[in-house]
Amino acid sequence: MSPFHITRILPEDAAGAALRADVLGGLHRTPKSLPPKWFYDARGSELFDEITELPEYYPTRAEREILLDRSAEIAAATRARTLVELGSGSSDKTRHLLDELSGLRMYVPVDVSESALVHAGEALIAERPALDVHALIADFTRGITLPDTPGPRLIAFLGGTIGNLLPAERATFLSSVRSLMSPGDALLLGTDLVKDESVLVSAYDDAAGVTAAFNKNVLTVVNRELGADFDPDDFAHVALWDRDHEWIEMRLRARTALTVKVHALDLAVDFAAGEDLRTEISAKFREDGVRKELAAADLDRTHWWTDRKGRFALSLSVAR
Ligand SMILES: C[S@@+](CC[C@H](N)C(=O)[O-])C[C@H]1O[C@@H](n2cnc3c(N)ncnc32)[C@H](O)[C@@H]1O
Repeated sequence: MSPFHITRILPEDAAGAALRADVLGGLHRTPKSLPPKWFYDARGSELFDEITELPEYYPTRAEREILLDRSAEIAAATRARTLVELGSGSSDKTRHLLDELSGLRMYVPVDVSESALVHAGEALIAERPALDVHALIADFTRGITLPDTPGPRLIAFLGGTIGNLLPAERATFLSSVRSLMSPGDALLLGTDLVKDESVLVSAYDDAAGVTAAFNKNVLTVVNRELGADFDPDDFAHVALWDRDHEWIEMRLRARTALTVKVHALDLAVDFAAGEDLRTEISAKFREDGVRKELAAADLDRTHWWTDRKGRFALSLSVAR
């Protein structure tokens, strides 16, 4: 079997320290918010994989369709010998790329979720004995250092995960990705597109309640890691389309006035009845906006592909 390495870029306590800082800052802010990376403990990663199978959640199917249709073209355009994937999760759709990248020597999945990396990495090396998998436990919003791998590199950021970053965070993120790229490297970016509000809202508020469970999982994470006493039943799952910003917001809305204690921070946080905690934004994009954001990071978009219904786009870019 081929080698599977896993490296922790974050020091052991970095996640704990970052969670403390985010909870302290986010629960004191008005409106209250927490970054979405805290959804993804082992249970959160499983719930996200369940979301990708839901009838309402079209992005995964739409992006898979593009990858099935276009991976050969992506392989011909990039000739990648290393595939780096940011926020790789289950690496499920990535298999279509791996099937076509014939010169590939190394796959570097990068994720905050150790459990997702271990499951995906073990499955991949069993399926593809010739592939080296070097997984990184890292936070892609905090700058990434890549191992010394053979070029050209293709950096993939799929799933529309870039939409979870605010516009200013996206600019910083794209510049940091650009700084990882050498001549000949490319970025493959998945972006969900603006569409009918009812389709968007349903994708984040499914009938079976899986997205609600995923949303509330962040409370379980804070309870376990920081000794908080959130009762997830005290909060309702809310998904809203913000027309001005063109993003979906996921929130947790307090059903009654309540106080939550966070023992590790010696903190008591009051929620008014109906007060929201924002847990995620998911920005939806237009073709020209994506091109401009890439250009602002010195990236030239060379390809733009959508699924047949025009719901989701993949773009390929090279360093200027
Ligand atoms: C929306 S899921 C997408 C998963 C997969 N790429 C797909 O397309 O199905 C986001 C993934 O990014 C990871 N993630 C979220 N924030 C992250 C961060 N700041 N740094 C590294 N990984 C992150 C999550 O653990 C999760 O696996």
